[in-house]
Amino acid sequence: MTSKAGDGDRTPDHTRSSQSRSMLRSMAEPRHLLIVAHTPTDNTRALTAAVRRGAAHPDVDGVTTRLVAPLAAGETEVLWADAIILGTPANFGYMSGALKDFFDRIYDPCLDKTARLPYALFIRGKTDATGALTSIDKVVGGLNWRRVAEPLLVVGELTTQHVAACEELGMTMAAGLEARIF
Ligand SMILES: Cc1cc2nc3c(=O)[nH]c(=O)nc-3n(C[C@H](O)[C@H](O)[C@H](O)COP(=O)(O)O)c2cc1C
Repeated sequence: MTSKAGDGDRTPDHTRSSQSRSMLRSMAEPRHLLIVAHTPTDNTRALTAAVRRGAAHPDVDGVTTRLVAPLAAGETEVLWADAIILGTPANFGYMSGALKDFFDRIYDPCLDKTARLPYALFIRGKTDATGALTSIDKVVGGLNWRRVAEPLLVVGELTTQHVAACEELGMTMAAGLEARIF
């Protein structure tokens, strides 16, 4: 008996097309980008606005972005997200208390549900943001989140280049989500 090409696939045509439809539907569903940023000053607000502006770039389609202050963000917001951008000032060589409070509240509830969650971060410091970066690295390492962009440390006098870099970060994250790179 001769065999025809395709004999190995016993999936009925109607099931296959329903699978394709559901795959196409899920490809069409908007992806979710969450920005959790503490913005106590004009400069931190300007940087965060730039990140959000970048995420809303007209060339990027199908990504819904939410900006939530760390004190107002919790497990629900994190579980909504397909990727997160964290923003904080450097305070006393550490992340801001507000961002730390966010992590304190979401750590246990999210630990088993958000492994490999893609994230990026930007930190505003006057002279040195490395301590803040280390403090965040420890927590997100514990959560097993996945860093998908270089940390953006905005140190010294604020410049238009800093603002542009934040805008680019937002756009890169949104574009990565749209392209399903992560
Ligand atoms: C209590 C406090 C602690 C700070 N600690 C640091 C620090 O450790 N490293 C640093 O580079 N900047 C530090 N700064 C500066 C802030 O990071 C900076 O003021 C904040 O990011 C807002 O930026 P802006 O002043 O340009 O608006 C500190 C500021 C405050 C109020």
